[in-house]
Amino acid sequence: MTGRNPDQPGIFKAISRALLRLAYGAAAALSGGCTGIQSAFSAFGIEAESTRALTWGMTAAATVITIGVLWLAWHAARAPAGRLDHQGGMRVILWLGAIGPTVLLTALLVSSLTKMRTLPTGADDLKIAVDGEQFWWRARYLPAGGQPVETANEIRVPVGHTVTFALTSPDVIHSFWIPGLAGKVDMIPGRTNDLVVRATRTGVYRGACAEFCGLSHARMAFDVVAMAPADFDRWLAGAARPAAGIDSPGRHLFEEYGCGGCHTIRGHAEDSTIGPDLTHVGSRLSLGAGTLPMTRDALSRFIRDPASVKPGALMPSFKDMPGKDADAISSYLAELR
Ligand code: CUA
Repeated sequence: MTGRNPDQPGIFKAISRALLRLAYGAAAALSGGCTGIQSAFSAFGIEAESTRALTWGMTAAATVITIGVLWLAWHAARAPAGRLDHQGGMRVILWLGAIGPTVLLTALLVSSLTKMRTLPTGADDLKIAVDGEQFWWRARYLPAGGQPVETANEIRVPVGHTVTFALTSPDVIHSFWIPGLAGKVDMIPGRTNDLVVRATRTGVYRGACAEFCGLSHARMAFDVVAMAPADFDRWLAGAARPAAGIDSPGRHLFEEYGCGGCHTIRGHAEDSTIGPDLTHVGSRLSLGAGTLPMTRDALSRFIRDPASVKPGALMPSFKDMPGKDADAISSYLAELR
């Protein structure tokens, strides 16, 4: 190696300035943009917590390694002539390029293998079968020894209990993802993939479809509510009950317009399961798979022109329906709690 290049300190200063700016930017993004109801950093489940710990661990290790390599390069560039030799360079490559990475990757593999093990399940655990439809979620709660309960577009889980999601789809591939709870799992027609989770804290979170599945892929989300076990049991018992005996003009219009040809409202219309079950639709947090707020106006808009909310949705539009009829049906649906 020859003597020092006078330009090098300038280059290193520029690189360290750029790195510093990058670090500031990353810190700002992490503190502001990575938390919230749909974030792997707002973990509320065992699996997401271990993924988050692994992410932070790897980020810290990558930072240390990067700083170490830069430090070495800086020293090598500033070394006086004759100080560095070929043998020394080969030693660095042997330790830092072969032995170091082998030890590090082996340690990482061993620690991730233990974390990748599926949670043990018992016969008494709750099972929730979720089907990815175009573009909504059919959810059937299958409590051990109890009656199945069908709902849609909302997932509720009891905190501290192991829950198995049985995931499939009747037509196209979707991906079921609740970032704060666990990793994503594909929903594949013709097979059922299990995802075992355990929520660790209560709260309202959000899940989404993570595999392009058609026009409204980006409008295929759902609310996730992690509840205390007693609250969950009470909610499930309520969800299992048929709709209350409301006698409103909307209920008759629901029948007249043939809505029951696709939707079930247990206790009122039980003929079809093509579309989402609407038995307690008014109690859901959102409408159209996380697309609109659950309000009467939003219900009316969805009924008259679903394609304007969800392009590609299989529900036909009722653009000729008079506004007062749509409002009456919406009022009826909003009362189904
Ligand atoms: Cu369903 Cu993307």
